[in-house]
Amino acid sequence: MRRISIDAFGMNHPKETAFAATRRRRTPWYLSRPRLLTTCVFFAVLYLWLKLGDTTVPIPEDSYALVEDESLKDILNTTLGFQKILVLNLPYRTDRRDSMALAAATSNIKLDYVDGVTGESINQKAYPPPDENIKLREGIKGSWRTHMNAMQRVVEQNLTTALIFEDDVDWDVRVRANLQRFALASRFLSENKESLSSKYKIENVPNTETSETMFHMLSPNGITDYLPSMPLSSIGTKGRHYPKHKHHDSPYGDPTKWDILWIGHCGAGFPRHPPTSSSKSPLTTSNLILTHSNDATVPISKYLKSHPFQDALDPLAPAYPPHTRIYHHATGGTLCTVGYAVSQRGARRLLHQFGLKHWNNIYDAEMGRWCASEDEKEDKEGKEYRGMERVCLTTQPPIFAHHHPLNGESDIGGLGGGYARKYETKYLRYSVRMNLERLVQGSRDGGGLVDQWPDD
Ligand SMILES: *[C@@H]1O[C@H](CO)[C@@H](O)[C@H](O)[C@H]1NC(C)=O
Ligand SMILES: *[C@@H]1O[C@H](CO)[C@@H](O)[C@H](O)[C@H]1NC(C)=O
Repeated sequence: MRRISIDAFGMNHPKETAFAATRRRRTPWYLSRPRLLTTCVFFAVLYLWLKLGDTTVPIPEDSYALVEDESLKDILNTTLGFQKILVLNLPYRTDRRDSMALAAATSNIKLDYVDGVTGESINQKAYPPPDENIKLREGIKGSWRTHMNAMQRVVEQNLTTALIFEDDVDWDVRVRANLQRFALASRFLSENKESLSSKYKIENVPNTETSETMFHMLSPNGITDYLPSMPLSSIGTKGRHYPKHKHHDSPYGDPTKWDILWIGHCGAGFPRHPPTSSSKSPLTTSNLILTHSNDATVPISKYLKSHPFQDALDPLAPAYPPHTRIYHHATGGTLCTVGYAVSQRGARRLLHQFGLKHWNNIYDAEMGRWCASEDEKEDKEGKEYRGMERVCLTTQPPIFAHHHPLNGESDIGGLGGGYARKYETKYLRYSVRMNLERLVQGSRDGGGLVDQWPDD
């Protein structure tokens, strides 16, 4: 029977089936019972094959394995699928540039540099409103200006996308595999705006974030009771639910539809309700969480902390099973700007907001509030929420994280500066920086490298 179904009905060549059937029309061969059964089974299998093949992304289980998909191929290039990678570096920190150059070289990554500036070097006339920002610490001012210089470069050079790195950034040796999986998520999360409830099977996971565990850069309003979640593997690369990937697009999704991909951070909140909606508003990608379970690049729960003095674990740890990575909109606050991508649209918006209009806080907190639309809610002119669209996407744990070297302090300081630093990189298991000597000595991916956060 199995042989018949393959040979006579051309299972391997679906196009021949119609031909074969036409040719034999006069003989009612298909009316005999066993054959009718075979025919039904064949069409059922064909249907399932087409349907599943059309909507399921074959994401390999192996965390080193790349996703075989033409549209994700550019992520394997030397700029990780972005048009450029810009590294922020103060020219006198040659130590950091040495380390950065080596880390990038071992991962076959090509970098461009943006010179960092110190707060002292900025002319008072060059600050946007309000005037109080002149009183901020010099380090905070220098960091803001350095990020603005990067935005200026992206706008002036008309880059469609750019990845911005602070010069103590670190990544796992599996960075390209991580980014491919992120790209599947970012395409979906940036492009599907309509209600999702009817199309997908969504699980409501109880939210573990509270007004105690959240970052206090945002108000506690909008913390949800549940985290609507669904597996990344259910969205499909080519399926009915996913818009056809256009070749001129970025592999991360159409860059005219997203602003920031906040993939390097030191903590992110879960998505909040948008300011205008209520808890009964329809579920869209703005509050959805995509999950990727059994991701071996994710450390077990007890290591999910962005710094040693953090009281509780990240809310990710109690909310999802160990080794789960999640992807979502960054509307719940995000800290540290160690690695983030901007589109041309995003760079223009950030340069307008923080270069011209208003800047008065540590840059990461400002960008976090911008992604959460919090600045609009508290607009000084007393205008109501205008609903300006911002699309910032993130993943937890981050794909890029701060490396704390043996003896070093960050000059481009974010929040959390000043605590005791260990020699480590949070969140990254096969960290490139922690394995730099082994990599320089010739260890290949996986072989002889040290896992910083091993499973018990
Ligand atoms: C890498 O891919 C991106 C996205 O297609 C492209 O813009 C960029 O130019 C490529 N970089 C290199 C070095 O080929
Ligand atoms: C900027 O790039 C876009 C497409 O990426 C192009 O249409 C536009 O003409 C470019 N503008 C300039 C000033 O080069």
